Amino acid sequence: MRAAVIAGLGGYVPPNLVTNADLTARLDTSDEWIRSRTGIASRHVVSPGTATSDLAVEAGRRALESSGASEADALVLATTTPDHPCPATAPDVAARLGLGPVAALDISAVCSGFLYGLAVSAGLIAAGTAERVLLVGADAFTTIVDPEDRGVAVIFADGAGAVVLRAGEPDEPGAVGPVVLGSDGEHRHLIQVPAGGSRQPSAGVAPAPGDRFFRMRGRETYRHAVDRMTAVSRDALVRAGWQVEDVDRLAAHQANARILGTVADELGVPPERRLSNIEQVGNTAAASVPLLLAQAAAEGELTEGMRVLLTAFGGGLAWGATTVRWPRLGPLTAPDRPGAEVPVPGMRPASSIRSTR
Ligand code: COA
Repeated sequence: MRAAVIAGLGGYVPPNLVTNADLTARLDTSDEWIRSRTGIASRHVVSPGTATSDLAVEAGRRALESSGASEADALVLATTTPDHPCPATAPDVAARLGLGPVAALDISAVCSGFLYGLAVSAGLIAAGTAERVLLVGADAFTTIVDPEDRGVAVIFADGAGAVVLRAGEPDEPGAVGPVVLGSDGEHRHLIQVPAGGSRQPSAGVAPAPGDRFFRMRGRETYRHAVDRMTAVSRDALVRAGWQVEDVDRLAAHQANARILGTVADELGVPPERRLSNIEQVGNTAAASVPLLLAQAAAEGELTEGMRVLLTAFGGGLAWGATTVRWPRLGPLTAPDRPGAEVPVPGMRPASSIRSTR
């Protein structure tokens, strides 16, 4: 069967950097609480008027550039924060990237969107529907966060990451391994925006204050995140025929540094093999995994031949994992490098990538 092979990679964060000090100035929280509970020191946030598509276009453009070709015949966009409830945002992104009248669809799997997107993109390629897919994970997540809700406002942030996937052979570098996915709708209430959908529509009774914002039951979410990412990672390793000792780098959804540490400990992946950028970018939801890959590859932390385990967990609940033997890629742009889409007054540089030690 034809495999999906990573041929290009790009990441982008908006220039506006919000530090813990910026948050403590307006919220009842502290730098010590945020760092010790989440591992986050700063995050990038969209300015008013910037939408998910703006981030997705910039990351997509960078991924196409690194692939050495400007075409794709399908665009898959994983996002929690589409520009509009209707239509999907993917056609707009495809049009602005000049891809022409290609297949384009959104995937709604919150923080697991990129893993779901890999499975869908690989399926499009295996079925012969597409030869080259541009898969983007992008979220302007702060647009649905209640700025007064200290339990989520300190965690979530904005960004985008993208990969170009081309048709290839399962044993070549860059081939995406078997993708293992799962969901648990019985716990849908742990992560939710209550209003704005058909259950609590815009028409009729006005939503209760706050129902248009994202809500999370953090402590319960934490437990599910650890259990599901650990289990699905083990399944993906078995499906790929890898032992945990084979894993050179773990690229897990940057939910929270403590979750990442526990998942890696339970799997047996040592600290020096764990990729992490949560300290600088926070939890960027659907963008998290491709943004991490883009930053790590741009900084030389991910090099040709490395065996990489990818995993994610999020609202739905939904989760996934897969494996990739890292390919040789064209020149990569650092995700915090200014983009063409957004003006960059007052941009501060993000520090370099760190392990989760
Ligand atoms: N600053 C200070 N105190 C805060 C706070 C903040 N930003 N946010 C919450 N608190 C308080 C709570 O109000 C609570 O106070 P109380 O004991 O007086 O009621 C206390 O801290 C403990 O709250 P709790 O939610 O139990 O904390 P926690 O140790 O579970 O940490 C999270 C909270 C959100 C960091 C943690 O649950 C978590 O990381 N969950 C998973 C989140 C996640 O990854 N979600 C994404 C999945 S994709």
